[in-house]
Amino acid sequence: MTTRIALITGANKGIGFETARILGRGGATVLVGARSADLGEKAAAVLCGEGVDARFVPLDVTDARGVQDAAAWIGAEFGRLDILVNNAAITTTDAADPASSPPPSRVAPELVRAALETNVVGVVAVTNAMLPLLRRSPAGRIVNVSSNLGSLTALSAPSLPASLPNLLPYNASKTALNALTVAYARELAGTPVKVNSVAPGFCATDLNGHTGHRTPAQGAAVIASVALLDDDGPTGAYLTEDGRNPW
Ligand SMILES: NC(=O)c1ccc[n+]([C@@H]2O[C@H](COP(=O)([O-])OP(=O)(O)OC[C@H]3O[C@@H](n4cnc5c(N)ncnc54)[C@H](OP(=O)(O)O)[C@@H]3O)[C@@H](O)[C@H]2O)c1
Repeated sequence: MTTRIALITGANKGIGFETARILGRGGATVLVGARSADLGEKAAAVLCGEGVDARFVPLDVTDARGVQDAAAWIGAEFGRLDILVNNAAITTTDAADPASSPPPSRVAPELVRAALETNVVGVVAVTNAMLPLLRRSPAGRIVNVSSNLGSLTALSAPSLPASLPNLLPYNASKTALNALTVAYARELAGTPVKVNSVAPGFCATDLNGHTGHRTPAQGAAVIASVALLDDDGPTGAYLTEDGRNPW
């Protein structure tokens, strides 16, 4: 295959940055999506310094016009997209502030709306804008970066381990993201485009105040492997390092 073109949203830091690094070191041209021009340019520069072909793409997933502009630029520059990693996300929980993760009965609805806006609606906006470009790829791959916290099976288990906190805004957004994976995979069945969810595991990033026990690179390795699935790989699956996750 010719050089893969890979867009990673929220790639200026954390798991997204490491995913860009792995895919770039593997030979892909990586498009570093970031909502901050300063942070995005810096991240792309770091990768270029490592010999990766990295370009910054301004991309706030909640800015519909900006998303269309990004797709138009990618189309004009490359004519197609091979890999889309929907990585950008927020949590409404501050790891240092227990009051920021109240039980569902005390969650402010605006926190749920905010989580869904970025983590779900943003993914729909980016995916729909990029799909015409992904359809031009001989082996399009969409990876939705989900979480074990999106698993209804895990969250409805008789006892919830401390590693799976009952965070309504974030958890519900990742369950909804999994629903997107199933829906897009169904629409795209029979095409070369595969759509999968990945749970990268609990990685130390800004998202959780660096409390994760895995490195962002470990989480990114799972995402990159699913982004590079062979043609006989799964679609519409919810994958971890250890295989399929229960929905
Ligand atoms: N860390 C974990 O343990 C863990 C576990 C399971 C799943 N995940 C998932 O892994 C993905 C990456 O998370 P992370 O841990 O690497 O978190 P992170 O370090 O906080 O990175 C999140 C990235 O998303 C970007 N972002 C947020 N809102 C955005 C928007 N509206 N438009 C564009 N970019 C936006 C952030 O940009 P700014 O720098 O501008 O804020 C940042 O680049 C997320 O989908 C997360 O839910 C993480």
